Amino acid sequence: MRKLIAGNWKMNGLASSLAEIEALKGTTGTAACDIVVCPPFTLIEKASVRSNGSNIAIGAQDCHAHISGAYTGDVSAEMVADVGARFVIIGHSERRVLHLETDTTVASKVTTAHKAGLTAIICVGETRSERDEGRAVEIIDGQLRGSIPAGASSSNIAIAYEPVWAIGTGLIPTLEQIEEIHASIRRMLEERLGEDGREVRILYGGSVKASNAADILRVANVNGALVGGASLKAADFAEIILAAS
Ligand code: PGA
Repeated sequence: MRKLIAGNWKMNGLASSLAEIEALKGTTGTAACDIVVCPPFTLIEKASVRSNGSNIAIGAQDCHAHISGAYTGDVSAEMVADVGARFVIIGHSERRVLHLETDTTVASKVTTAHKAGLTAIICVGETRSERDEGRAVEIIDGQLRGSIPAGASSSNIAIAYEPVWAIGTGLIPTLEQIEEIHASIRRMLEERLGEDGREVRILYGGSVKASNAADILRVANVNGALVGGASLKAADFAEIILAAS
């Protein structure tokens, strides 16, 4: 399966940061994986123009559950698609925790993203205490059941497994732990989507960097990575992309 490497800039990036996309274009043109950069909303249009004609797709980091309406300050899937986004991250743990997004919210957002023609990267992951209690598989199974809406398929979703305790901490699960969770996500996807569940890309996210990417990307059922901090600089992100190629 062709791997997908997605960069999540989070609330970082000004117009000057678009130089990173230019630099990335220069080094990853022959990469044998799919590449997505998710800058903040304010840069999506400019990033789309800059990446035009390259193998870099642009994504958003969130969208509203409704396509339009009286939701002051929010941004819809249709709006980000209109300015060139093709992907959207939905249900990142920072949204689930800081914006109280539930699985039901996530599923509604994914449906709206699909209506706008976007591919949704749906994030799931356990907290440290849930892992310590031996409940990681159960938690992720529940999140997936609640977060994947009707109409989902391998052509319009990817799943990102991001242990909450591994995000931005420099900590990562062991390769065995990653393999266990990805295998259980695969089983659940097959149960839910039948044969097509085998084709859905399952990304690992949480402290991925150039020094650990190759090992993580070799684990069974790891079909890509969702990268935060190490996606901000083209040089670091390019190394991860090349590890996937
Ligand atoms: P990190 O973030 O790579 O900085 O740990 C990953 C993410 O939150 O998607």
